[in-house]
Amino acid sequence: MLSSLGVIGLGRMAQAILSPLLERGEIEPEQVFGVVGRKTSVQVVKKQLPPEVRVFSSDDPDSATVWEAPVQLLAIKPQQLKALDRTLNKNKPVLSTSRPLLISLLAGVTLQRLKQSFPKHSLVRAVPNTPALVGAGITGLSLGEEITTDQQLSVEKLFNPISEVLDLPEDQLDAFLALTSSGPAYIALIAEALADGAVAAGLPRVLANYLAHRTLYGTSLLLKEKELHPGQLKDMVASPGGTTITALRHLEKGGLRSALIEAVVAAAERSRELA
Ligand SMILES: NC(=O)c1ccc[n+]([C@@H]2O[C@H](COP(=O)([O-])OP(=O)(O)OC[C@H]3O[C@@H](n4cnc5c(N)ncnc54)[C@H](OP(=O)(O)O)[C@@H]3O)[C@@H](O)[C@H]2O)c1
Repeated sequence: MLSSLGVIGLGRMAQAILSPLLERGEIEPEQVFGVVGRKTSVQVVKKQLPPEVRVFSSDDPDSATVWEAPVQLLAIKPQQLKALDRTLNKNKPVLSTSRPLLISLLAGVTLQRLKQSFPKHSLVRAVPNTPALVGAGITGLSLGEEITTDQQLSVEKLFNPISEVLDLPEDQLDAFLALTSSGPAYIALIAEALADGAVAAGLPRVLANYLAHRTLYGTSLLLKEKELHPGQLKDMVASPGGTTITALRHLEKGGLRSALIEAVVAAAERSRELA
């Protein structure tokens, strides 16, 4: 179990990590200290978490508690790092004998850049995704050089209960993020469009939505369990002169494959830009 956690930025991604950890008893709510940007966000965030979790706004002097936790999760937007920098006192000595661990979720922000803001921390970059909410996430990690074995264990305690974890070279994180972190949005869009198609073809909306996500779920499980190449599965379904090959012809004509390739490349480029 994690002993104590400071969370800087308690938005969508931080909560997607924190909520399942709290639900599964992987951390005690009394041991979680969070800080958000605006005063008005404090009550909103508090309603989404157990009452024992302490939440401060960034201008509250008590928010310093967050920076005293041995493990800290940085989950603000990359664009908000400069503003955070201005409020950090880099010369303030670290109270504990060892360096605290800072796990950054910031898209595109490199370990080298993080070191400028957090020279007295051990650093890790983590790229999680929202399926962590249901314990089915995938997280890419790049560990900084100063990480101790205990800190590595803390990183595992944070991400293993909610996701599969992969160690990656840092220069692969942008492409990893473009597929896995942004991916749930692409898949949700596909699910929505498939359901729209079924409604256009005559099914009621609720049934169409259910069938779209059930089909995505079953297909994903089949690819994984039978270790199929996606092309193999496509060929298994498309019989000569049948309905599927007719539909696939439309998808190729509409450029679905190329649109998805370009989307992933564009997301990776945007992540690099944010650095
Ligand atoms: N969403 C995803 O699926 C996903 C996936 C992988 C990685 N990430 C990364 O996760 C990070 C967070 O993304 P998100 O989608 O969770 O963003 P978000 O929902 O906008 O959350 C950002 C949080 O940071 C807080 N914040 C802003 N300035 C702050 C400051 N100076 N001090 C303390 N807290 C401050 C915000 O508080 P206020 O609302 O009060 O301003 C908010 O709670 C990003 O760096 C993103 O690259 C996200």
